[in-house]
Order: sequence, then C-alpha cells, then structure tokens
Amino acid sequence: MFTEDKPHFYGRRQGRRLRKAKSALMDSFLPKIKINPQNPLDFPFAPENICLEIGFGDGDHLAGHSANNTKNAYIGAEVFKNGIANLLSLMTGIKQNDEIDGEINLLPNRSDNVRVWDDDIRLLFPLIPDNSLDRVFLLFPDPWPKKRHAPRRFINPDNLKVLARIIKPGGVLRVATDHKIYKSWTLRKMHECPDFEWTATCGNDWKHEPQDWVQTKYQRKAIREGRKPVFLDFVRK
Ligand SMILES: C[S@@+](CC[C@H](N)C(=O)[O-])C[C@H]1O[C@@H](n2cnc3c(N)ncnc32)[C@H](O)[C@@H]1O
Repeated sequence: MFTEDKPHFYGRRQGRRLRKAKSALMDSFLPKIKINPQNPLDFPFAPENICLEIGFGDGDHLAGHSANNTKNAYIGAEVFKNGIANLLSLMTGIKQNDEIDGEINLLPNRSDNVRVWDDDIRLLFPLIPDNSLDRVFLLFPDPWPKKRHAPRRFINPDNLKVLARIIKPGGVLRVATDHKIYKSWTLRKMHECPDFEWTATCGNDWKHEPQDWVQTKYQRKAIREGRKPVFLDFVRK
C-alpha cells in the first residue's frame, strides 16, 4: 500500500533464513556501522570523497571499492537482509559456518570508512545535505523490463531531482546495467535531465569496466549468461 511518506519498495527484503554467524553479524556488528540518520555524513575522519552506493546487493563492489580507497567515506544502502549480511561478512571475514565467540570487529586491514543504511535509500534522501556527495553508484539496478513497471525503475525524474541536489557540481553518478531496455531508458532520462552530462568521449569507453571498477554479483551473472554490461558515468553540471 502507498502512503505519502513511505515510498513502496517492490523488491525482496529477505531470502533464505540467515545462518547463525550471519544473524550474529546483523545483531551485533551492523549496529556498529549503521548510519546515524541525524548525521548521515558522520565519519571518524575527514574523507577525501563521500560516496553512496544504492542497492549494493551482496556488497562486493562496496567492500572492494572502500578497501581500495581508504581515504574515501562510503554510505551503502540496501534493503535485502541477506545482501547486507554478506557485506558484513566481507568486512569482518566471518563466514556463515563460523562459530562466533567474542566481539566482532572489522578485518584488521580495513579502515572504518563504510556506513550502512539498511532500508530504502529514498527514506534517507531527505536527510542528506545539498551538494554533499562526490560519487553515487547505481550498479545493475532492477531493470523492471515490462512497460507497465517502468515507473518502478530507479532512474526516474523524481530520483534524478534528488540526486542532482545531493551530488556536488563535478560529482559523478555511475550507472551500470546489462539490460538493453534499462540502458536506453537511462540514456534517455539522463539526456532529458538538465543537471547531468554523460561523460562518454568515444564510441566504446562505456562498454569497458572503468579503471577503479570492482565486479558485482549481478555483473558476473550477466557475463556468464552472455550479456554485455555497460558503464555510464554522468557528471553533475
Ligand atoms: C539487481 S540487484 C543488484 C545488486 C548489486 N548492485 C549487484 O550489481 O550485484 C538490485 C539491488 O538494489 C536493491 N534496491 C532496489 N531499490 C532500492 C532502494 N530504493 N534502496 C535500497 N536498495 C534498493 C535491491 O534490494 C537489490 O538488492
């Protein structure tokens, strides 16, 4: 049911029941890195860049990008509990069959640069200040290929208006997709939006993984199934 303040979320919130170790991660480690909605950009250091990943899925890109760029701060948003538990597993090194005894901490080589919003990102949007983000990643979003489901696609005029407000001028929105309909839809909606410009400079650069790329679960699935992902960067004017 729609309410005025809570947008409807169409995806899955939970899959299989979590094993004991992953439940322990959700119960005792997630609270340590959960975002403080009163101050969503509160990090224990002054970051060079603040990045947001929307719908991080199993967390491979978020865990990898944040490990490779320790001076950046990251907000990761995901609704799917099993995905969040997987991110926590990547960040702590705790696997689902491990016995937990004692406090759970970040892997010793990781910096404390990730905060998690375990709900629909649209609920956090109003609390993110204007011009505050350097990078936003939207990687392999649900394509909702049927025409009647098109309003559910994350790239839409309402979300673009918010992204234009919270991304700094010069900041970048990166969208990756393996779906032809979503690719054309994104290019069209972004072209219609006066606040962003596609950065592609030659016919092919958007067909290759960018330099700082970390592969995601959905990307690997797409490649296995013979689809070719595209990587679209849009700069905030
Ligand atoms: C197709 S999956 C892709 C996951 C991951 N980015 C990857 O490439 O493997 C899309 C994910 O976005 C999440 N998602 C969709 N809409 C969202 C929203 N409004 N806020 C937070 N997460 C969202 C879904 O729960 C789902 O896990």
